[in-house]
Amino acid sequence: MEDPHMGITLGIDVGTSGTKTLAIDETGRVLAAASAEYPCEHPHPGWSEQSPESWWKATVATIRDCLANANLKPGDVQGVGLSGQMHGSVFLDRNGEVVRPALLWNDQRTAAECAEIEDRAGGREALVRMVGNPALTGFTAPKLLWVRRHEAQNWDRVRQVLLPKDYVRYRLSGTFATEVSDASGTLMLDVANRRWSHELLGKLDLDPDLLPSCYESPEVSANVSDIGSQATGLVRGTPIVGGGGDQPAGAVGNGIVRAGAVSATMGTSGVVFAHAEDVGFDPLGRLQRGCHAVPGAWHVMGVVLSAGGSLQWFRNELGKAEVAYARERGVDPYELLTDEAAVVGPGAEGLFFLPYLTGERTPHFDPDAKGAWIGLTVRHGRAHMIRSVLEGATFAMRDSLELIRAMGVTIGEIRLSGGGARNALWRQIQADIYGQDICTINASEGPAFGVALLAQVGTGAFSSVPEACDATIKVVDRVAVDETARAFYDRAYSIYGRLYRDLKGSFRDISGLVATK
Ligand code: XUL
Repeated sequence: MEDPHMGITLGIDVGTSGTKTLAIDETGRVLAAASAEYPCEHPHPGWSEQSPESWWKATVATIRDCLANANLKPGDVQGVGLSGQMHGSVFLDRNGEVVRPALLWNDQRTAAECAEIEDRAGGREALVRMVGNPALTGFTAPKLLWVRRHEAQNWDRVRQVLLPKDYVRYRLSGTFATEVSDASGTLMLDVANRRWSHELLGKLDLDPDLLPSCYESPEVSANVSDIGSQATGLVRGTPIVGGGGDQPAGAVGNGIVRAGAVSATMGTSGVVFAHAEDVGFDPLGRLQRGCHAVPGAWHVMGVVLSAGGSLQWFRNELGKAEVAYARERGVDPYELLTDEAAVVGPGAEGLFFLPYLTGERTPHFDPDAKGAWIGLTVRHGRAHMIRSVLEGATFAMRDSLELIRAMGVTIGEIRLSGGGARNALWRQIQADIYGQDICTINASEGPAFGVALLAQVGTGAFSSVPEACDATIKVVDRVAVDETARAFYDRAYSIYGRLYRDLKGSFRDISGLVATK
């Protein structure tokens, strides 16, 4: 009889609000999924930190839950793929102990270090030539410079710097390793040549030994150690593939592995992601550029720092009644919020929301940008406010889509994923604001699914990433643009764009006011 547990791989996604682990078989069927949440600390306005230990605890718990839920024996698992929030920096000492909490992707403290990096590199264009990207506050390299400058005692102890998912790899295997897609977001990878940029490291006086070995995403990079095995129950020696940063990994999970395919993902951040066959070059670095988790391919993406995060903020701060009611009824509070929003028409009767709650990356690169409601009148109530949050986050995504269009990247199909794909109202708003029909697919698990597929490729079930995607991912639903709403949103979008430009100076002044209080 055929073994019912052939070819199983685990995908682990170390996210910002929690870790998700799932088990799939070689047909892409999800056998079990488990998740565990943890907090994020904001010790100052604009700062964002997390304890690496909380990722490890969540990883251990979710692997164990997954094995138990799917009734798997540890030996059934053929391989593991790791994904995670990008750009975070984990600082380890010579014993592999964490030196200080990790600085995350949405931490905005490094404006001065970004300016310093651009300067040392010989200007923005020179920097983009070296590492594919300009210095952005959330990226890893400026965080190293910040700790070096502000926490000399901590810096003196640092011997190894890892990305979040690579810290979990270290705990599972004892190996320091990363892969090209996540490394692209460190500002230390020569993205065109898919290896660390010794040129920039030299200019920044950073020792290359601080960085781990760098693999391609489907390559086996490490094996579960005795310690990793005891903690998780996985068999010692189980291969761990490179995996991917959550955005490239999510793109694999959405089947964005060929030219023309674009995804729009609303998680805490919002990301518009396009596959690219060539590395490309834009002297201004208006979009993030990186190696794809598909060997030999690259990607461009625009990142909205608080897309789903804006709705999450609304839920937490202004939706306490819905949260309590939802808990009583066992329903999803987001469904209650979007049901309220659905009674209001496009444009929320003239109410705009700017979603810059944690500053903004694409297209403004502005750590001082702030959230705002503009256009409030006595007619407006909660329903308008919620609808304006959904629309504001989507206008911000359209900014990235417009940049991708302007660079001549073909957009054959837009696939939605993340929380924004699960809600009918938000799907329609996205089609109408993007001005293009959108579709959703059968796999909704994003990055965890993507890296479970990469582990399938790395352990030999498929010969390439596109082959694995073709065998497992299908379009299941399409949403057509409502032409009347599209025409309306085109007009509203031009006002939306003006609002940031008008307020930019005031946002900076407000930051000064808070800092000097
Ligand atoms: C991508 C980015 C975020 C994080 C967190 O550049 O900053 O999407 O990866 O999910």
